[in-house]
Amino acid sequence: MNEILQTILSRRSVRAYQPRQIDEKDVQEILLAGQYAPSAMGDQPWHFTVVQNAVLIENLQILCKASFKNSDNATLRELSSREDVHVFYHAPTLVIVSGDNKAVAPLWDCVLTMENMLLAASSLGVSSCWVHSPMMVYGTPEGPASLSSIGLNFPEGHVPYAAAVFGYSALPLPEAAPRKPDTVTFLK
Ligand SMILES: Cc1cc2nc3c(=O)[nH]c(=O)nc-3n(C[C@H](O)[C@H](O)[C@H](O)COP(=O)(O)O)c2cc1C
Repeated sequence: MNEILQTILSRRSVRAYQPRQIDEKDVQEILLAGQYAPSAMGDQPWHFTVVQNAVLIENLQILCKASFKNSDNATLRELSSREDVHVFYHAPTLVIVSGDNKAVAPLWDCVLTMENMLLAASSLGVSSCWVHSPMMVYGTPEGPASLSSIGLNFPEGHVPYAAAVFGYSALPLPEAAPRKPDTVTFLK
């Protein structure tokens, strides 16, 4: 199996991080990989907000947990009041990919960007985990203003579509869940 396939198969979502920051060179290579994702009509409608300020990450996680309180999902409501839950797993870097809402397919472009970054990180020994809560906060009526109030602003006309934390894993990587059977249909 070649190295790219090995990276795809061995990437895992990590939920416990060492406090030490990722090497700057690795951050730049991860961001470069993101920028080489395909995009509809070659729009490249993305912008990368790289948050490495621990206070900002903490303030954002407070907003995220507050938004869980009003969720329709019982698990999220339960998580909102749990002191031991950190929605960003104390990772030192959070990347939010926003997309120009006037582009042809910004959601898909930004998701592909993020997958490129998750895989690039894995290839460099940097762990990651997609975290959906920043988008949930943004989607609430007061979300954009709340994010702005803690210093999280996106370029004009941009919507955050993908977010993930990055850092060095504090634990051995978890096993992959078994793959679901019968998910492929060939029509020949
Ligand atoms: C759209 C999306 C949203 C996700 N949101 C979260 C999240 O908020 N928190 C989290 O810990 N993991 C989140 N994940 C990670 C998934 O839980 C994880 O990818 C899945 O359990 C499979 O594990 P693996 O990534 O190790 O293969 C998300 C993944 C996707 C694709």
